[in-house]
Amino acid sequence: MRGQARYDRVAVLLHWSIALLVLGMLALGYYMVGIPKGTPDRAVYFNLHKSCGVLAGVLVVIRLLWRLTHRPPAFPVDMAAWNIKAAQGGHLLLYALMVLQPLSGYLSSSFNKYGVKFFGLQLPRWATEDAGLRDSLMGYHKLLALLFAVLIALHVLAACKHLLSGRQHAARRMWF
Ligand code: HEM
Ligand code: HEM
Repeated sequence: MRGQARYDRVAVLLHWSIALLVLGMLALGYYMVGIPKGTPDRAVYFNLHKSCGVLAGVLVVIRLLWRLTHRPPAFPVDMAAWNIKAAQGGHLLLYALMVLQPLSGYLSSSFNKYGVKFFGLQLPRWATEDAGLRDSLMGYHKLLALLFAVLIALHVLAACKHLLSGRQHAARRMWF
């Protein structure tokens, strides 16, 4: 038996559903801001983005709770100390962005005149319209999206490096 440590099934399911959702949301976000203002298409895509973003936020909360109550697998014994530190730091940053990205979007949208709908259901309005707050929070949302995209690219490159250098077991830790 190889006895390779791996993430449990719930952690893997959450990793991949959130990964697909976040990658889709980055693409959708950059696509929708190019749709001309005042067209029905723009409202449809913006509402889809907000709904999927709220869903991502809820899944991230579940994932964090799961992660904090379930020990992740130990790193492979042949992994260098600097590599472990880099992986841990990268994962921590990814978690921070998973929280801040939907949060900044939700907060920003709470201060606009439309509020936030979750697949057609208007979420409770707790804020009044404030264009200044909306725009500054949206500034963070846009900056975080860029950081997120760069960090995900590095994360995927690191996983590919494992696969190409014959350390498939390292990448398989997060597979079904
Ligand atoms: C789409 C391509 C992706 C691939 C191939 C991939 C691959 C992996 C692999 C192999 C691991 C396990 C690392 C280890 O050995 O500990 C991992 C962990 C992780 N991935 Fe991904 N990933 C992808 C996308 C993403 C995305 C989009 C996010 C962020 C939303 C993400 C966030 C994380 C985090 C936070 C961990 C650490 C898990 C923990 O220790 O709790 N991944 N990923
Ligand atoms: C994983 C979660 C999310 C990701 C990855 C994401 C990503 C993005 C991206 C890439 C953009 C385009 C940025 C740009 O133009 O430079 C964007 C814009 C936007 N996002 Fe998100 N977003 C997320 C969650 C949310 C949530 C939860 C909401 C609101 C409930 C939201 C509301 C918006 C709005 C309103 C815009 C358009 C801003 C404008 O008018 O230009 N986002 N998002």
